[in-house]
Amino acid sequence: MRIDILTILPELLSGPFSASILHRAQQKGLCEVHIHNIRDYATSKHKNVDDYQYGGGAGMVMMCEPIASLIDKLKAERDYDEIIYMTPDGELLEQNISNQLCLLKNIIILCGHYKGVDERIRQLYITREISIGSYVLSGGELAAAVLADSVIRLIPGVLNDETSALTDSFQDNLLSPPVYTRPPEFRGLKVPEVLLSGDFNKIEKYREEQALERTKQRRPDLLEHGEGN
Ligand code: ADE
Repeated sequence: MRIDILTILPELLSGPFSASILHRAQQKGLCEVHIHNIRDYATSKHKNVDDYQYGGGAGMVMMCEPIASLIDKLKAERDYDEIIYMTPDGELLEQNISNQLCLLKNIIILCGHYKGVDERIRQLYITREISIGSYVLSGGELAAAVLADSVIRLIPGVLNDETSALTDSFQDNLLSPPVYTRPPEFRGLKVPEVLLSGDFNKIEKYREEQALERTKQRRPDLLEHGEGN
């Protein structure tokens, strides 16, 4: 899978992709992440990427031209399955969206800033708009990193234990059960006996019950969606 991220602040994105699982996924050749600076495609003398909004009002708008030039260049090089714009007014990111996206070959993620991008970029190029939550970030970069992380970890072979992405919270509309490691007792709190029993069937049953209990308590809305959605 190839992900091209378009930003005016590439330095914000270098960190997340150069450590841990996201770094290893690229090293293993399972995905390529290319970060592009939109400013490199600005044509004005001062390399402007934003301008005042028509109709007045506070806040700048990201201009069409540099973004369009960059997307045109990328589209001439390969076909893209989705061109995603990160925006607080997009559809809310849920596990099922990441599940869909991890099957794709090439995607572009556009990060907005200021008041956002000129509406015509959305009309002409964007195929999907995604929000990572009902709050406003200073820009789309951190949101793009969250989206890319949630997608890349699902690519087969990225996680060492392939089953671990399948047992994540949300994959079956259930939160994960509590987990423990050594020591068996810490400040008077003991690891549940069943987890030390070595009886795999009992352990599975315990984990299922705990997952259900936790979901009922913390996210009852997930249970209303029904299993497997
Ligand atoms: N850009 C600014 N806020 C955002 C959000 N919540 N989700 C996605 N992109 C954003």
